[in-house]
Parts: sequence; C-alpha cells; structure tokens
Amino acid sequence: MNHQSPINNQQSPAVTYASYLKIDELLSLQQPRSTGPTGPEHDEMLFIVIHQVYELWFKELLHEFDRVRRLLEDDEPHRAQHTLKRILTILKVMVAQLDILETMTPLEFLSFRQRLDAASGFQSDQFRQIEFVLGVKSAGAIERFADGSRARTELERRYHEPTLWDAFLRYLAREGYAVPKSQLERDVVAPVEPSPEVEQILVTLYRRDAKNAELCERLVDLDEGMQEWRYRHVKMVERTIGAKRGTGGSAGAAYLRETIGRPLFPDLWEIRSQL
Ligand code: HEM
Repeated sequence: MNHQSPINNQQSPAVTYASYLKIDELLSLQQPRSTGPTGPEHDEMLFIVIHQVYELWFKELLHEFDRVRRLLEDDEPHRAQHTLKRILTILKVMVAQLDILETMTPLEFLSFRQRLDAASGFQSDQFRQIEFVLGVKSAGAIERFADGSRARTELERRYHEPTLWDAFLRYLAREGYAVPKSQLERDVVAPVEPSPEVEQILVTLYRRDAKNAELCERLVDLDEGMQEWRYRHVKMVERTIGAKRGTGGSAGAAYLRETIGRPLFPDLWEIRSQL
C-alpha cells in the first residue's frame, strides 16, 4: 500500500514542527499559581519550567536505563556502554541546570513558595523510578501514590523488576565469572549490599578484562553522577531555604544530607583500595 498517496496527503495535513512536538499543548502547561499586584511572581515561571524540564529528562533517563538493562541481558556490552555514555551526558546536563535555579535568591523564592502547598520534588514518581532501577527501593514510596494511578502502576512494576546491578551481575556470570548463586538470585527488592565474593571477582576483572573493566568504570561514573546531583541539589536547597522544613514535609536540607554519599554499587567503590 502506498502511504504517500495524494489522497492520503489531502486528508491529513502535513506534519509540522508544531504539530509533531505538540508545541501549543507544551506551552500551555506552565501555569503559575502566585498572584502579585502585577500578575504572577516573575521567578515562578523559571521554577515551573526547570521542574518540567527535569521531569522530561527523568523520562528520557528511564527510557535509556531500560535499554541498558536489556542490552546487558542480550550480552551486548559495547552497546550497553554506549547507552551508559548517553545517560552520563544527560546527568551532567541535569547537574549543570541547577546553576540556573541558583540565580534565584531566597527572597525571590519566598515570593511564591507558600503557593506550592505540599508540592515538592520529593513527590516525583519518576525520580523514585530511577532510584528503583538503580537499586534504591522503598515500598513506602509506592504507597504515597493513589491506587491505579500511572505513577503507582509504574513504581509497582519497577519495584519487582531486577535492578541494573542485578542485570550486570547476571551478565558477568554469563561471561564466565563465578558470581555466587546467592547474588544471582538475591531478592531484587532488597538494597544492594557489599559482597566480598563479588569484590574478589571485580578485582580479577579489573586486572585482566579491559572490556568489562570499562563497563564497570561507566557504572562508577553513573554512581558518582547521581551522588553529584544529590550534593548539588542539597547545596542549592541550603542557599535557598537554609534550615527551613521542606514543602514536602521533611526536615529539608538535613533530610537531604542523609541521602548523600551512599553508593549505589558499593562493591565498585570498595575494590578501589584493593587494586
Ligand atoms: C528552589 C529550588 C528547590 C528547593 C528549595 C528544593 C527543596 C527540596 C527539599 C527541602 C526537599 C526535601 C523534601 C521536602 O521536604 O520537600 C527536596 C527534595 C527533592 N527535590 Fe528539590 N528543591 C528545589 C528544586 C528541585 C528541582 C529543580 C528538582 C528537579 C526535579 C528537585 C527534585 C527533588 C527531588 C527528586 C527530591 C527528593 C530527594 C530524595 O528524597 O532523595 N528539586 N527538594
């Protein structure tokens, strides 16, 4: 069948930049809540745009994480590395974007903060999905979302899926490394704990297997990149709201500081002192 038939062209208008990217819909989604004497507070637009941009990057990251996991399952380490490189580049852009928000002073933020009610990045289901893929899972995080909602359905699915680390360990086993059964069949819901047996394997791998050592290095980059985001976010929070409580109900910066410095893949850090 000829999809390019003139009849078909007459019926459906040609695709344009605006129709393909749904520009009108996209541009209608920034709706400030503040009402000053001359309209919404100036900086609220930046706050909305930057959060929406983050959510789009989160969406893209999840899309790429699913691909990396699939490529490892298909024993395609080079392509997995290539995708990890893309993920790391996105993460760098995400960290750099915090600079823009840091141009907003505490008083500028206060001009509309009370209009946020309980809204906070703490409630971002896509951020929690990313954490789940990377092995930071919490049943409590799922329960915050309404039964049957998109967020809850996605979180429930990812909660029970193997993490990126699980996919990596199973890949290593297929590459001939003696990954213990207890690790290959570990409960994918549990946190990734350090394993002396896996560390022994990784030490050998780093010394003799350049291809897979490169893959490990990209996972370390990813781990470091996520920690970098958390560090930069908490610094931004400290300079914008100091020690005040968060709109999401937490202790604010004090809560966020507790999430810094916890590695996603502890074995990859532990072996540094053994090499
Ligand atoms: C002025 C800017 C910002 C301030 C003052 C701020 C403040 C906070 C605070 C206080 C928390 C702790 C939870 C709470 O009680 O609310 C938090 C969590 C969080 N924020 Fe922000 N935030 C800002 C910008 C952003 C941006 C641009 C993003 C990007 C999406 C973001 C994403 C997150 C995420 C994902 C969490 C949860 C972190 C976790 O639980 O480990 N925040 N934020």
